[in-house]
Amino acid sequence: MSSSSRDVLAVYPGSFDPVTLGHEDIARRTLRLADRLLVAVAETSTQSRNPLFTVPERLALLREVFSGEDRVECVSFSGLLMGFARERGAHCIIRGLRAVSDFEYEFQMAQMNRELWSEVETVFLTPDAPYAFLSASLVREVAFLGGDVSSFVSPVVKRALARKLGR
Ligand code: PNS
Repeated sequence: MSSSSRDVLAVYPGSFDPVTLGHEDIARRTLRLADRLLVAVAETSTQSRNPLFTVPERLALLREVFSGEDRVECVSFSGLLMGFARERGAHCIIRGLRAVSDFEYEFQMAQMNRELWSEVETVFLTPDAPYAFLSASLVREVAFLGGDVSSFVSPVVKRALARKLGR
C-alpha cells in the first residue's frame, strides 16, 4: 500500500470490550501502512458474548487510549461491517491474528465480507510477542477474579475495570 499516491483509510473493527494493549499494538502497526485509521466498535458482534462495557463506554476508552494519535478516529457502527466500510470509503479492514486458533473464524469472516463487498481487502497483522495470547475476554476474566491486569491494558482501562467491577 503506497501512502504517497493516495490517502489510505483502514478500518479496524472489533468488540473492544475492553481495548487491550494487543489492540493498541495492532492499531499502531496499522499506522505504518495506512494514512488514517478508523477504530470501529461493532454494536453487533459475530460471536455473541455478555458484554462488560456498553458500546459508549468502550468508545470512550478507545478515545482516551488513542487521544494522542491524530490519524486515528474512534467510532461505533451498527449493522454490517461492509456497509460501514463502504459508506466511509475504506480501502482495507485490519484484523489481528494471534494464534492458529484465530484462523478459522477470521478466514470465514474475511471470505463472507468479500462476498458482501469485494472492493475492500482484509489485512491480517500479528501483534508483538507479549500480546500473542492476549484477549479481551481473558482480561475481563482476570479482572473479575481480582488479578492484576496492568501488563495487558492501559492505566485508563485498568481504572475503568476496577470501577465497573466495584473495586
Ligand atoms: O473483536 P471481535 O468480536 O472478534 O470482532 C468481530 C467483528 C465486530 C469484527 C464482527 O463481529 C463484525 O464485523 N460485526 C459487524 C456485523 C457484521 O458485519 N457481521 C458479518 C461479519 S462476516
